[in-house]
Amino acid sequence: MKVMSIFGTRPEAIKMAPLVQALEADPDIESVLCVTAQHRSMLDQVLELFNLTPDYDLNIMKPNQSISMITSNVLLGLEPILAKEKPDMVLVHGDTSTSFVAALAAFYQQIKVGHVEAGLRTFDKYSPFPEEMNRLLTGRIAELHFAPTERNRQNLLNERVRDNTIFVTGNTVIDALLHVAGKPYEFEDETLKALDFDHKRVITVTCHRRENLGEHMANIFSAIADIAREFSDVEVVYPIHLNPKVREEADRYLGGIPNIHMIEPLSYQPMVNLMARSFFILTDSGGLQEEAPALGKPVLVVRRETERPEAVEAGTARLAGVDRATVYKLAKELLTDQAAYEAMAKAVNPYGDGQACSRIVEAIKAYFEQQS
Ligand code: UD1
Repeated sequence: MKVMSIFGTRPEAIKMAPLVQALEADPDIESVLCVTAQHRSMLDQVLELFNLTPDYDLNIMKPNQSISMITSNVLLGLEPILAKEKPDMVLVHGDTSTSFVAALAAFYQQIKVGHVEAGLRTFDKYSPFPEEMNRLLTGRIAELHFAPTERNRQNLLNERVRDNTIFVTGNTVIDALLHVAGKPYEFEDETLKALDFDHKRVITVTCHRRENLGEHMANIFSAIADIAREFSDVEVVYPIHLNPKVREEADRYLGGIPNIHMIEPLSYQPMVNLMARSFFILTDSGGLQEEAPALGKPVLVVRRETERPEAVEAGTARLAGVDRATVYKLAKELLTDQAAYEAMAKAVNPYGDGQACSRIVEAIKAYFEQQS
């Protein structure tokens, strides 16, 4: 049976890499890897870390690309590849435009789709934008749904997805995390090398979502600047996404503050090590909300909603919103109230046990055995 994995951005690559490795290792499966390269350098960092060589590379990334450009280039680019390879199943991940469009391209050739990280919902089609709609539409097309948690399964059942097509597997991000965490590692980045992790409290920041661009980012960055100015024992590290719009805003609000360090995007291994050595994490990312609880680090989520409420319920994440005063207040609380900090800094793992990939491979094999 031939299974083609298709992805294009950094987070998809991190979460699909251990699955592609598991597919490649299985003697019953012929694994084909196609990347769209919706991201270029940020994707290549992950491919290199996990030793993956794509069979096909659409190389679609353009500076300041619009969602329509991504959509049309992926759709047209995949058509001949799918026609030539004729895979039995295409695997896509999560909620990016690459994921949705790859599912659509497969559907047009009546190729079955497996959706990894299925069933996450905010129930607001504009937030995150366009991700909530991407995952809804991918879910409509998919034949098999690999849901990280029981709640994700329930979301799919509520949309009348058939129970016997849903598999609760855990999130493959934990498989990826276990692959790199625990390996001895020394930073290569000069800024990180020079940081005094023993005597300073490091706050790791990531922020780049489309719906946060503009006013929200101005609020979030202003709150971070307030904290950095007030606490001299704090060092803020912001590995900044390559999106030029994000870079402009970050420079405007965070530039010139000595204990704020804006650095180039980190590869996965240094990123995991930075999180593990941080005091807490402030982010609008999805993946970090899953990784930080596993590392026992408090997370302030700078968004108005989350499709990952499990970490909030477990007590390690808080939804901080996008308002300057609230973000400042919650960050200050973690820095000044030891009991509040300790209540959040506990290792919990609502997102899986590191075996998600083997469960997905087994489910795919069982599906094809039933068909034959
Ligand atoms: C995309 C996904 C989002 C995902 C995020 C993770 C869509 C619509 N958005 O958002 O779901 O959470 O990736 O990062 O699918 N760039 C580079 N080099 C790179 C990567 C990006 O220069 O290696 C620049 C490009 O100029 C590009 C811009 O970043 O135009 C934005 O990238 P894009 O893929 O359009 O959106 P993201 O915000 O990264």
